Amino acid sequence: MKKNQNKQAYAIVTGASKGLGYAYCEELLKLGYNIIGVARDTSSLKELQDKYLDLKVESWDLDLSDIKNSYKLFEKSKDFDIEIVINNAGYGVWGFFEESDLEQELNMIDLNIKTLHILTKLFVQEFQKKNRGRIFNIGSMAAFTPAPVFSSYYASKAYVWSLGVAINTELKKTKSKVRVITLCPGPLKTEFWNRSSNQKEAKYKSTIKVMKTSTYAKKSLLAGLKTKRKNYIITGRSNKMAKSLTKWAPQSIVLNSVYNYQRKRK
Ligand SMILES: NC(=O)c1ccc[n+]([C@@H]2O[C@H](COP(=O)([O-])OP(=O)(O)OC[C@H]3O[C@@H](n4cnc5c(N)ncnc54)[C@H](OP(=O)(O)O)[C@@H]3O)[C@@H](O)[C@H]2O)c1
Repeated sequence: MKKNQNKQAYAIVTGASKGLGYAYCEELLKLGYNIIGVARDTSSLKELQDKYLDLKVESWDLDLSDIKNSYKLFEKSKDFDIEIVINNAGYGVWGFFEESDLEQELNMIDLNIKTLHILTKLFVQEFQKKNRGRIFNIGSMAAFTPAPVFSSYYASKAYVWSLGVAINTELKKTKSKVRVITLCPGPLKTEFWNRSSNQKEAKYKSTIKVMKTSTYAKKSLLAGLKTKRKNYIITGRSNKMAKSLTKWAPQSIVLNSVYNYQRKRK
């Protein structure tokens, strides 16, 4: 892909301090974008600033599960030429619904849904003024089925997918050049599993072969930047097969297999 030529162009990445968000920051820097990285602790981004000296890496420490901070982020960003926003910060709350912690679930809903919704709205409005700009919302393969024993996380990702696909359709129908693309990763080896589950779960995940986080970031970002037509992007053969299964297999079979898969984590 051709490098970005606008030296003033910035990409905002939420959840930039580690995992997928950090990998997106690095891929964007390689493509010539300056970065505004947001997380509760962005100290890790110094490494990227030291590596990409001719570009700027702004580090903003904000807890985005407090929705006031989404507005703060948007207001602060007005001093920059923003071309890309990646709504990536997120986590899950695993467990049987009657046992899982309500406060944690509500905090997750604030981060995964409300903050993403607010930033998508504000930046779509801003980008429409100049008829330019892309928002990438990080969904998940979890968007495509309800999941017993991981119910609220999967439901949050279904919201992200449904919202993004609908907005992107509106944008295409009204001939806008702005896009809201939902990127749907399958499992990646990040700290997500330590925060969103328990230690046993994290070990369980680490035994299966998954795409490298940096490879996923590169492939999904390039596909998302390139597409004019797609509403969402699934990367990798096994993820594409899993999507077909959720579409064609009877729902009772899908629900049973997700239940058995998620329950193993106890
Ligand atoms: N890993 C997977 O298997 C997988 C699969 C599909 C989809 N996803 C999605 O991919 C996205 C990134 O997850 P990941 O795997 O990279 O997880 P991760 O390694 O745990 O990274 C999460 C990032 O979000 C930030 N974050 C967490 N809570 C925040 C808050 N309240 N305010 C601001 N930033 C916050 C974290 O930084 P701080 O802790 O410093 O705040 C960190 O930078 C999530 O939306 C996740 O649902 C992950």
